[in-house]
Amino acid sequence: MYHFIQKFHSGWAYLALLLLVIAVFNSFSGWFSKREFSAKDKKIGLFALIGTHLQLVIGFILYFTSPKGLDALGYMEDAEMRLTALEHPIVNILAIVLITIGWSRHKKAVASDLKFKSLFVFYMLGLVLILVRIPWKAWFSI
Ligand code: HEM
Repeated sequence: MYHFIQKFHSGWAYLALLLLVIAVFNSFSGWFSKREFSAKDKKIGLFALIGTHLQLVIGFILYFTSPKGLDALGYMEDAEMRLTALEHPIVNILAIVLITIGWSRHKKAVASDLKFKSLFVFYMLGLVLILVRIPWKAWFSI
């Protein structure tokens, strides 16, 4: 069970990050070029929202099954354990809250530039937070 969830979380991260990067670029280009917000733009934002939310759900399951999750909270003097048991989950939850705020603000906005701006600012902040607290070493050592 643990190995499956761990591999899923590790593999899905590529897709979730790719969808998020595409949504950030797309919202920036829409905002910058002042074009109309289209159904395609909405879809791109929605896929990134779904991709990151699924990663969050897998992350929660992993937290309770991995030796580097809840069980590692007693080893906070170890930087790697602190990263996966505390920093990575907290910062990523915050990132996904920001992405969700960006999505709901874009839905409430009427003007195209405000929709693009909301998606760009909040998705970008979310992306940066995710990137600064990914366990890079563990990710690329498998
Ligand atoms: C978009 C959000 C997230 C991304 C992109 C992400 C990505 C990653 C990546 C790339 C790894 C390294 C995987 C490896 O060692 O092969 C990892 C590990 C881990 N993540 Fe996440 N994660 C996210 C959210 C979360 C959340 C919200 C939690 C917990 C509530 C979480 C819990 C963990 C745990 C416990 C590990 C260590 C797993 C292990 O090696 O046993 N993650 N994450």
